Amino acid sequence: MASSPMASIFLVMVFLSSIFIATEAYRASSRTVQCSHGGPGIQFPFWLEFRQSRDCNSPGFDLLCRGNATVIRFPSYGDLVVKSILYNTRKLNLIDPKSCVPEVFLNLNLSLTPFHYWYAVRNYTYFNCSAPLSNAFKEIPCLSGVGFHVYTVESYLPVPGSCKKIKTVAIPFSYSPYISDNSFGLGLTWDLPGRESFATKGHRHILSIDRGNGKAVLSIGIVIVALVARASVKIYRSRELQKLKKEQELEAQKLLADS
Ligand SMILES: *[C@@H]1O[C@H](CO)[C@@H](O)[C@H](O)[C@H]1NC(C)=O
Ligand SMILES: *[C@@H]1O[C@H](CO)[C@@H](O)[C@H](O)[C@H]1NC(C)=O
Ligand SMILES: *[C@@H]1O[C@H](CO)[C@@H](O)[C@H](O)[C@H]1NC(C)=O
Ligand SMILES: *[C@@H]1O[C@H](CO)[C@@H](O)[C@H](O)[C@H]1NC(C)=O
Repeated sequence: MASSPMASIFLVMVFLSSIFIATEAYRASSRTVQCSHGGPGIQFPFWLEFRQSRDCNSPGFDLLCRGNATVIRFPSYGDLVVKSILYNTRKLNLIDPKSCVPEVFLNLNLSLTPFHYWYAVRNYTYFNCSAPLSNAFKEIPCLSGVGFHVYTVESYLPVPGSCKKIKTVAIPFSYSPYISDNSFGLGLTWDLPGRESFATKGHRHILSIDRGNGKAVLSIGIVIVALVARASVKIYRSRELQKLKKEQELEAQKLLADS
């Protein structure tokens, strides 16, 4: 039975489908690059300067490798290290290499970038005092220095008279001495690039298959294999039935001829 042409065609089809699935999965995974082993995977809408072509990517999403670190450059602040990128939830987790998150919050201006803070923001006023304030205010050590002390208050509160207002900024957290982590609050989310032409939509659709890391392609492939298998089995069975019928007819004719 295995030598039947239908069975051979079926096997060839299964083989070709497997090759198709394998190549698609490989292509999807090879679209992701990394700065170092264990570093965040870089894929659409992000892209790695000097390593990936620009055409299918978008401004503001360019990343760099600095040694083994993945880095994103903000003109308003400088370089921040990319800790992780969560594509499903669109969350970019960053680390401040200077370990002064309140300084990032003070200077980082996201208005001309595709990003905004992942967390809800409130307006805080930063201010600078020549003398330290009471313990009711929490001094920001990494922004303060000899002869000056920097604090934040919620923007609706008055700035103490002896101090100079620096800036009011919409940020997720004010300074806390208990959480002076170099990544605390440095979570951003992004809007996808605006142009919604038919071409970019189509492209995005294809890329969204890639983002599923070949999973979508895999399931489509499995469905194709299943359909091909079902069709082949049906054809094979009907052929076998016809053969059987013919044999029976021949036998019947033979019996008739004999008698
Ligand atoms: C990355 O490089 C730094 C210094 O260049 C090194 O200390 C660290 O171990 C490296 N990390 C990895 C994961 O290779
Ligand atoms: C951020 O940049 C925009 C555009 O350059 C500017 O209008 C805005 O005032 C800036 N915001 C802050 C808080 O500096
Ligand atoms: C912060 O202040 C600006 C300017 O007064 C205002 O437009 C904005 O809505 C405020 N943001 C929040 C989160 O309160
Ligand atoms: C605070 O004031 C001091 C002295 O005037 C100045 O050197 C320092 O840069 C100021 N800090 C900030 C964050 O503006």
